[in-house]
Amino acid sequence: MNGRFWTIADLDQIARIEAECFSDPWNRRMLAEAFLSDRFFGVLLEENGVVTAYGGAAMAGDDAEIELIATSEMYRRCGRGGKVLADLLEEAVRRGAKRAFLEVRVSNAAAQLLYLKSGFRGLYARSRYYPDGEDAIVMVKTL
Ligand SMILES: CC(C)(COP(=O)(O)OP(=O)(O)OC[C@H]1O[C@@H](n2cnc3c(N)ncnc32)[C@H](O)[C@@H]1OP(=O)(O)O)[C@@H](O)C(=O)NCCC(=O)NCCS
Repeated sequence: MNGRFWTIADLDQIARIEAECFSDPWNRRMLAEAFLSDRFFGVLLEENGVVTAYGGAAMAGDDAEIELIATSEMYRRCGRGGKVLADLLEEAVRRGAKRAFLEVRVSNAAAQLLYLKSGFRGLYARSRYYPDGEDAIVMVKTL
């Protein structure tokens, strides 16, 4: 499982997986805007030309915010999400991050378990954070 950074040519595949995975997906325009920002970095795993998992994060001072992470459904539970998260955190440290933050839906047990396993801890809940009214848990990891 080799990771690499996103290129502009990956955005269509990433947008497709976003649409499969989320009720409020980032579309291609949102992905492109993030991709073009100096503060943003995106990593992915690719197998035989197919993107199987990806993540994206943005720097804000000493903090990195994990903004996106997903594994295409048929490739889940084989370590890809953990690898993408580790690659994001490695790049965040390289860019000077001291902490990483993320938000996760209270109902998303799979992602919460991934984050706990990767050393994140829950900080507090954000009420009605998502467009459908679901609460978020804010999690942090000291890097
Ligand atoms: C969350 C997600 C990225 C995990 O990706 P993945 O490639 O399956 O993750 P991994 O195989 O690296 O799993 C790492 C650990 O996470 C936990 N985990 C992942 N999926 C799980 C599930 N369905 N049930 C319970 N634990 C789970 C486990 O602790 C797992 O370790 P283990 O397999 O040794 O038990 C994936 O389920 C996904 O894309 N979900 C939809 C998008 C999403 O919710 N993204 C997060 C938004 S905040």
